[in-house]
Amino acid sequence: MFEIEDPETTDKGTFYASLARQARALLEGESDPVANAANLAALIFHQLPNLNWAGIYFLRDQELVVGPFQGQPACVRIALGRGVCGSAAAARETIVVEDVDEFPGHIPCDSASRSELVVPLIDADDRLVGVLDLDSPSTGRFDREDAEGVELLARCYTDSLSG
Ligand code: SME
Repeated sequence: MFEIEDPETTDKGTFYASLARQARALLEGESDPVANAANLAALIFHQLPNLNWAGIYFLRDQELVVGPFQGQPACVRIALGRGVCGSAAAARETIVVEDVDEFPGHIPCDSASRSELVVPLIDADDRLVGVLDLDSPSTGRFDREDAEGVELLARCYTDSLSG
């Protein structure tokens, strides 16, 4: 296992590059989507500061269904286009929400969540397989650098699916 940089003293680019190396090492040699989602959610939740939820929603029959996560119990099904997760999935684009109260249609799962980052998971065949969702109890927790860093982690996951 690699040493992960200290997020308090390292710039975000270096921190996420180091976390992505750790994610690749963790997922390498395994292509089971549930197993790898579980390990990625645990890695993110325990390494990224100031989160209250981190997990994966899988696309199943044109709706999102909760997969492995760390945090409080969450809503199970989210329609495409609904909430932050469904909007990111429908647009196939990362969404950073500085303040969940300002996002129309935000679906509150944990009332502690104040900001959110959702990254779509798109596999090597350009198919949407789900989304990676991070919640924070702090307003404005995620910026562009976090979005890019978590996109890197999302790619570690989708790359692992093809073995
Ligand atoms: N807040 C999300 C729902 C999922 S939970 O945050 C775990 C949304 O609006 O899509």
